[in-house]
Amino acid sequence: LAKTPLFQGVPPQAIEVAREAFVTRNYPAGKLIFEAGDMGAALYIVQSGQVRIFRTYLDGRERMFAYLGPGEVFGEMSLLDDQPRSASAETTVDSVLLVLYQDAYWSLVRKWPEILHNLATILARRLREADLELEVLSFEEARGRVAYALTKLRKQRYGDGLRMKLTHQELAQLSGTSRETVTRVLHALREEQLVKVGSGFVEILDPAGLEEVLFGLR
Ligand code: CMP
Repeated sequence: LAKTPLFQGVPPQAIEVAREAFVTRNYPAGKLIFEAGDMGAALYIVQSGQVRIFRTYLDGRERMFAYLGPGEVFGEMSLLDDQPRSASAETTVDSVLLVLYQDAYWSLVRKWPEILHNLATILARRLREADLELEVLSFEEARGRVAYALTKLRKQRYGDGLRMKLTHQELAQLSGTSRETVTRVLHALREEQLVKVGSGFVEILDPAGLEEVLFGLR
C-alpha cells in the first residue's frame, strides 16, 4: 500500500489503518471484475498481477483503455460520482486486488485528506492522457495512432522491457484502427527500424523515434 500513488506522502499510521480497511481478493486470469454499466462503488488497487480496462461496443468491437500493474488504482470514478462503471475490468493473469468500499474510503479521507488529493492527482493525470489520446485519434493518421498505442503500452510497462506480447488485432483495438491497417503500419515502422515484429510480439527498437511518429514529426 505504501508504494501506491494513492498513499504517497500519507503518514505511516494512515497506511496501517488503511490496511485494515481494504479487503483482499484473489482473481484468476481472465476473470471479469466488473462490466461497464454495472453499479458499484468500490475502488481497487492492483497488489499483484495485471488488469485490463476496456469497453465492448454493440457491434462486438472492443476498445482497450489501459493495462494496469501493481500499485495502480481503478474503479475510483464510480466511487466518487455514484454513476455506473465507465468501462469493464478484467484480469489478464492471476491477480490479487485490494478493494476499498465507499464507507471505508470516506472515513479514511476524512482523517487524511492527502488521500483525496492523491486521487485527484491520479484523475488529473488520466485526463491529460485522455486529452492526448483524443488529439491523436482525431488528427493523426493510422501511423501516428499505432505509434501512440505502442508508446502508451511502453509507458504502462506492459511488456518485458521494450518487448511486448501483442497481436495485430490487440494493437488495432488499442489504436482505434483495423487489423489490416496495423499490419501495414508495422511493416513500414519495421522498414524504418523503429520496431521489430515477430509472431505474437512487437519490440520497440527506437522509443524516441516512435514518439516522433506519434507527434507527426517523422
Ligand atoms: P469506474 O468508472 O468506476 O470503472 C471503470 C474504471 O476504469 C474507471 O472507474 C477508471 O478507474 C478506469 N478507467 C476508465 N477510463 C480509463 C482510461 N482511459 N484509462 C485508464 N483507466 C480508465
